[in-house]
Amino acid sequence: MSVPVIAIDGPSASGKGTVASRVAAALGFHYLESGALYRLVALAGGDAPERVAASMDVEFLNRKILLNKHDVTDYLRNEAIGDQASEIAKLPAVRAALLGRQRGFRQPPGLVADGRDMGTVVFPDAVLKVFLTASVATRAQRRHKQLNDKGKHATLAALSSALEERDKRDAARAVAPLKPAADAVSLDSSDLTVDEVVDQVLNKYRERMVR
Ligand code: CDP
Repeated sequence: MSVPVIAIDGPSASGKGTVASRVAAALGFHYLESGALYRLVALAGGDAPERVAASMDVEFLNRKILLNKHDVTDYLRNEAIGDQASEIAKLPAVRAALLGRQRGFRQPPGLVADGRDMGTVVFPDAVLKVFLTASVATRAQRRHKQLNDKGKHATLAALSSALEERDKRDAARAVAPLKPAADAVSLDSSDLTVDEVVDQVLNKYRERMVR
């Protein structure tokens, strides 16, 4: 039997990272934050991103991410890096170079993977595919709070328009556009707490496993 994968895809600030890592912890599964790989390619820089994607040395530790042995955890979540990542993510050669790396995270007893194309491209045979959404207003508020907690500031209006820009770019690109897999369950988290979303995902997974 193959190692089970739960794919959690969705737009920027939909909460997929928080939900995916909590679901992974609850099940004792591995966790892949695929967006971090695109961010790492952006952070590593250089003029041949597909080569960087293939050769960069990355380690995901408990709470830290190392790039070529340096702790880059604090730089990775930067908005500018996110924007560059979204540009780089349009390149088919970069996506192809990251495919094998991502699939390498599929180790027993299971994997929870979050991103834009986990259910459509990287793990098409995932046992459960969740497409997590939330309204732009909710997502902008969440991002606002996250930034505030880190002592950084941005207006809600600026965050909303940046999110809409990012959504458009991710949905319009030719390769692996942001869209739910045909067999994905859509979950709108606008009016749900993190605990409620995590519970719904766990319940859906358990339903699948008893069938
Ligand atoms: O969700 P958020 O935009 O905050 O960040 P992220 O998940 O770290 O993703 C950063 C960028 O990487 C996104 O805008 C996507 O364009 C790209 N990405 C992707 O193309 N495919 C993935 N599986 C994950 C991220």
